[in-house]
Amino acid sequence: MNTILRTSLAALVAVTLAVPALAQDVTIKFSHVVAPDTPKGKAAEKFKELAEKYTEGKVKVEVYPNSQLYKDKEELEALQLGAVQMLAPSLAKFGPLGISDFEAFDLPYIFDGYDQLRKVTDGEVGKGMLAKLEDKGIKGLAFWDNGFKIMSANSKLHTPDDFLGLKMRIQSSKVLEAQMNALGAVPQVMAFSEVYQALQTGVVDGTENPPSNMYTQKMHEVQKHATLSNHGYLGYALIVNKKFWDGLPEDVRASLDKAVAEATEYGNGIAKEENDKALQAMKDAGKTEFHELTPEEKTAWVEALTPVREEMADRIGADLIKSIEAATAQ
Ligand code: LMR
Repeated sequence: MNTILRTSLAALVAVTLAVPALAQDVTIKFSHVVAPDTPKGKAAEKFKELAEKYTEGKVKVEVYPNSQLYKDKEELEALQLGAVQMLAPSLAKFGPLGISDFEAFDLPYIFDGYDQLRKVTDGEVGKGMLAKLEDKGIKGLAFWDNGFKIMSANSKLHTPDDFLGLKMRIQSSKVLEAQMNALGAVPQVMAFSEVYQALQTGVVDGTENPPSNMYTQKMHEVQKHATLSNHGYLGYALIVNKKFWDGLPEDVRASLDKAVAEATEYGNGIAKEENDKALQAMKDAGKTEFHELTPEEKTAWVEALTPVREEMADRIGADLIKSIEAATAQ
């Protein structure tokens, strides 16, 4: 082999080896605050599986559940700083970023089931909300479901009067604050990772969450009563650091987009069933008494909580609320 050929071959081998080594450098750290065995936890694992498959290992996804890396507020800061690349915070947690639109999802009784909700998340209203994140250095990729919330405490919660003076843990949403105030309760913003202990020690009396979160955090072990009120929705925006995402090679981003679309379909497909299973497991555990609202009680809840919509119109935007009402044909 002559010298020129040998040198060219050596260069070719070096390049061939260098390409995968370079490409493997992409790691997506995906931080979240709930248990792996929840709709969000499972969708995150599905994204990891598909992203690694479709990029043929060029992208590695590390999922950190249960606030292992960051708690509620810190995780958004970490994303903006680029310490993590992907999150799926609850829609109730975007207010501190200066974006209150997502709090519309917290309005009591704004959605009557997943089908109505989907009209918003899959339509123009949802698209517009995700686009607002770009100014904050964040790209919104999808809406992920959890489910409809139940209220819990150590005392029965049958009518709005039962909430009087109870300290209720909420996420950092002004709408949820208004909701608890409307019931006569005292809202307390607290990170998700601290809720179990706060309930156990009596720092707060009660809380609200979909069954999947309540069960996987064992909140039912420290709450004697729960009401199947389905008074509000809890879901997520799947988000990434925009600079990171835009800087990815186009083919890699296309593979990741495909993984996002399929993980979203998977997660949103299992959310209801996961919540139904969690509720049944808590009923079987027998530690909490679950109450179904009577028609009269439901009317009293609706009457107490629907004024929150008007009260929050200035913050969220009356037009946005109207668009949601129009999309859901109310
Ligand atoms: C909560 O803080 O109650 C929820 O947002 C947790 C979650 O991410 O589902």
